[in-house]
Amino acid sequence: MSRRIQVGVLGATGAVGQRFCQLLEAHPWFEVGAVTASERSAGKYYKDAVDWRLSTPLPDNIGGLRVIPTRSDEMPKDVQLVFSSLPADIAERVEADYARDGFGVSSNAASYRMFDDVPLLIPEVNKDHAKLIQIQREQRGWDGFIVTNPNCSTIMLVMTLKPLMQLGLTDVKVATMQAVSGAGYTGVSSMAILDNVVPYIGGEEEKMQIETPKILGAFDGTKVINASITVSAICNRVPVIDGHTESVWVDVDASPEEVKLAMASLPPLKGLPSSPERPIIVREEDDRPQPRLDRDVYDGMSVSVGRVRRDVVKGIKYTLMGHNTVRGAAGASILNAEMLAAEGFLK
Ligand SMILES: NC(=O)c1ccc[n+]([C@@H]2O[C@H](COP(=O)([O-])OP(=O)(O)OC[C@H]3O[C@@H](n4cnc5c(N)ncnc54)[C@H](OP(=O)(O)O)[C@@H]3O)[C@@H](O)[C@H]2O)c1
Repeated sequence: MSRRIQVGVLGATGAVGQRFCQLLEAHPWFEVGAVTASERSAGKYYKDAVDWRLSTPLPDNIGGLRVIPTRSDEMPKDVQLVFSSLPADIAERVEADYARDGFGVSSNAASYRMFDDVPLLIPEVNKDHAKLIQIQREQRGWDGFIVTNPNCSTIMLVMTLKPLMQLGLTDVKVATMQAVSGAGYTGVSSMAILDNVVPYIGGEEEKMQIETPKILGAFDGTKVINASITVSAICNRVPVIDGHTESVWVDVDASPEEVKLAMASLPPLKGLPSSPERPIIVREEDDRPQPRLDRDVYDGMSVSVGRVRRDVVKGIKYTLMGHNTVRGAAGASILNAEMLAAEGFLK
């Protein structure tokens, strides 16, 4: 790509927004031309609007931008695509305005994920669903478009399920142990989570259960036909900063070795800057994966799997772990945009 594509980050001061800015700081294809946040932050330099909570150096090129209001008419016209890390209620209104005004929107928010004409993408799993963009534009009369990435726990789960579809997968049970960064900077009070486990994350179980069949579904040229698969999820918040861990039970009629081989063989995407060389790392150690040891593998874009074994009742059980604000959020959204750029959707 000879000239970098100008992008904006909506909700740039939040937990995911800061991760976007960190990952985009030296991106070879995308250049951050604008950052937005709430009226509380608008007008400030980005470096003053966030106290740098990711404990990484503040990117100079982005730190010197003035935060602008999140309205689409404020966005510079040379920006082609915006990454959205807005709260869902704000995203629902704002993202449609951007798409109507001709911007591509690569969103983390849940607002549009389940609409029939909106792609819910994991490029290694269902990049052909991006063809829904054409249908979306025709139906809604938009010059731009909205694509979404799944919920953070769903992304990691589905990456491991995709290779199991060929082994006859129909039934999945999952229990998550989700990091506090998944709730955003102000999401969970330290008094609530330290020395504790909270067995409830609002809306999370439902998202895992309904998003998975759509992502694993087949695009027939006009719509996605959901995969015939049931998911039952239990979601817990645990005192880990970054990295969601999930215990998974699947009903496949295959040996642990066949499951491991299938997962390790999920092909990477060629030629995309954020695509990990190995999307799934299968570990053999009894005590892996662990968030502190495994969340940053391949810059946080790989999912680590371990403890693959037969279940005493039926099928196979295993543990997976991935970085929730990278593979589960900002990194996923950037990978979607890279795939769209490579496939010519950003012209
Ligand atoms: N955290 C994760 O791991 C994760 C994973 C997947 C998806 N998501 C989704 O990503 C989105 C962002 O999550 P987060 O964890 O980054 O949240 P967060 O830390 O609370 O950040 C929210 C961002 O939105 C801005 N904002 C809030 N109210 C606004 C308004 N009325 N108008 C314009 N901007 C406004 C905030 O700006 P100010 O700083 O000015 O308030 C901030 O930049 C959510 O939809 C979430 O569900 C999060």
